Amino acid sequence: MFTTAAPVKSALPRDLFGAIADLKRELNAVVLAHYYQDPDIQDIADYLGDSLGLSQQAAQTDAEVIVFAGVHFMAETAKILNPNKLVLLPDLNAGCSLADSCPPDEFAKFKAKYPDHLVISYINCTADIKAMSDIICTSANAVKIVNQIPSDQPIIFAPDRNLGKYVMEQTGRDIVLWQGSCMVHETFSEKKMVQLKIQHPESEVIAHPECEEVVLRHADYIGSTTALLNYCQKSDRQCFIVVTEPGIIHQMQKAAPDKQFIPAPPMNNCACNECPHMRLNTLEKLYLAMKHKTPEITLPESTRIAALRPIQKMLAMSV
Ligand code: 13P
Ligand code: SF4
Repeated sequence: MFTTAAPVKSALPRDLFGAIADLKRELNAVVLAHYYQDPDIQDIADYLGDSLGLSQQAAQTDAEVIVFAGVHFMAETAKILNPNKLVLLPDLNAGCSLADSCPPDEFAKFKAKYPDHLVISYINCTADIKAMSDIICTSANAVKIVNQIPSDQPIIFAPDRNLGKYVMEQTGRDIVLWQGSCMVHETFSEKKMVQLKIQHPESEVIAHPECEEVVLRHADYIGSTTALLNYCQKSDRQCFIVVTEPGIIHQMQKAAPDKQFIPAPPMNNCACNECPHMRLNTLEKLYLAMKHKTPEITLPESTRIAALRPIQKMLAMSV
């Protein structure tokens, strides 16, 4: 029996890489991608980075269209910074479990209990949470930002309790934490990681601060995705157990082809160390988003203006 190809598939050109390059020129578009994207998307990106690098790029691009290969809160941040540009997200369902763990109405009630506190929010949150915050931070600059706050100023940190705990340890500050977390970074098994370390005694464990304290305890180095990538290039070790979303290993392997990178295993025999939200974007969807100029990120102007101020504060405090 003959089957009919899906309309979306039949609309795809043979050379997707070439077609995306053509559309970039036609639209005056820039493709910004996070390290957790599929390797194909990483390879066609104009800029690849962690959340801080991506927001810095979004703040300074002169392209007319921003194609954001990442998750919703990242593309939303780009739109907050660029209200007059078209910001496209290849799959509008690419959300974030951490952002979802902080509903705005509940956070407003929580914040009201601490009227004297400064609110520092991790960029992995919705525009509504950003609008209720004083300063935004990322995993790359959270410690640096908290260290710039006078020591007698009480702080609320939201939404990631693991990054919040790590910041408390690094700064010696007592901080009120919102109890949110990332489903990917809480999936790593301490037991399996320790077993891996025993099998590879010469290796270093490098971990993202969104991981739980029990896992971070075993890390030789803790940092944002960009910091992890830089670290493994500088280190004289040859083998690394990588405790974050394994998408970053594509860049690690490119930067240090002779070194070995072992993804830290999740608790179950699943691929749940891959972010299901990030992985919703595909090269095909990215092409179609550019071709049809949709799905587009939009948000109410009042929310955008309120969310812009704490993002600008972060950018100023990160230099
Ligand atoms: P960074 O990009 O700050 O390393 O954070 C990783 C992450 O979880 C992004 O969603
Ligand atoms: Fe969100 Fe975690 Fe995925 Fe990052 S890895 S986008 S924090 S769910």
